[in-house]
Amino acid sequence: MLLEACGLTYSYPGGVPALADLSLTVTRGKRLAILGPNGAGKTTLLLHLNGTLSPSSGRVLLNGTAMGYSRKELTAWRRQVGLVLQDADDQLFAASVAEDVSFGPLNLGLDDGEARERVSDALAALRIADLADRPTHMLSFGQKKRVAIAGAIAMRPDMLLLDEPTAGLDHHGSVHLLAVLEKLEAMGTTLVFTTHDVDLAYGFAHEVALFNAGRVVAQGAAAKVLADRDVMNQAHLNVPVILQLGLKARALGLLADDDALPRSGQDAVLLLERAVSGRA
Ligand SMILES: Nc1ncnc2c1ncn2[C@@H]1O[C@H](COP(=O)(O)OP(=O)(O)OP(=O)(O)O)[C@@H](O)[C@H]1O
Ligand SMILES: [Mg+2]
Repeated sequence: MLLEACGLTYSYPGGVPALADLSLTVTRGKRLAILGPNGAGKTTLLLHLNGTLSPSSGRVLLNGTAMGYSRKELTAWRRQVGLVLQDADDQLFAASVAEDVSFGPLNLGLDDGEARERVSDALAALRIADLADRPTHMLSFGQKKRVAIAGAIAMRPDMLLLDEPTAGLDHHGSVHLLAVLEKLEAMGTTLVFTTHDVDLAYGFAHEVALFNAGRVVAQGAAAKVLADRDVMNQAHLNVPVILQLGLKARALGLLADDDALPRSGQDAVLLLERAVSGRA
């Protein structure tokens, strides 16, 4: 287990309740999708998982150690746990793209050469090397988002929290981002992301935590949680269409119980082709 949130309760100033005795675990190497309706507390949780907000009760454990909130402890915490905010405008602050992405690696105390290499790798991975000298405020929404993600991956954290990473990206941008995240994962980063996209959660995550009203209503294997109509309804979500199709194929005997369920559109097309050729 990498990180544990135990009984977190938090209200924003003015008394708006956001987290209510929330518990959740993140296992090393298992991609976790956090799903839930607007206002459920997803962003507030991520802000607790890297120490930006501290709970009024409960605690966060990283590798079994309860985290503290002194300046020194927070610096160490954020080196291990990176966060990409929902809105890139809240994240970017430097004058140029290259400066923004360099800030983290330089602060890690890396020598100039290594920091430069990390920055150019991150810019290349997000395909924004050509934007390096551009002012961050003069970029499109999707370009800003990529810069924010490049800044986070240049830190090579143990764990990366991404708040709605694909929202607002075009289709190719989303597919490409997932490939970049897979590479980062292969280097040892555990991925946690929030989303409203049930298809993304089903196709990409290993585990899903469903939120409602500041609590986790279910956490477990993606295909299991996402197939549970009752809890999905509670979180105002639908069962992913490809999962519905796979479960139907099983019920009709077109797929054996121990056959893998389709996870992508392409898997679903293959299943359909197999079913039709079996009938011929
Ligand atoms: N800065 C803030 N000040 C006061 N209340 C806030 C603030 N940010 C969020 N809230 C409230 O806290 C609750 C949880 O909000 P949060 O942003 O965590 O939800 P979310 O699940 O991320 O929603 P979304 O899907 O819209 O991003 C909501 O009731 C919201 O109105
Ligand atoms: Mg949010």
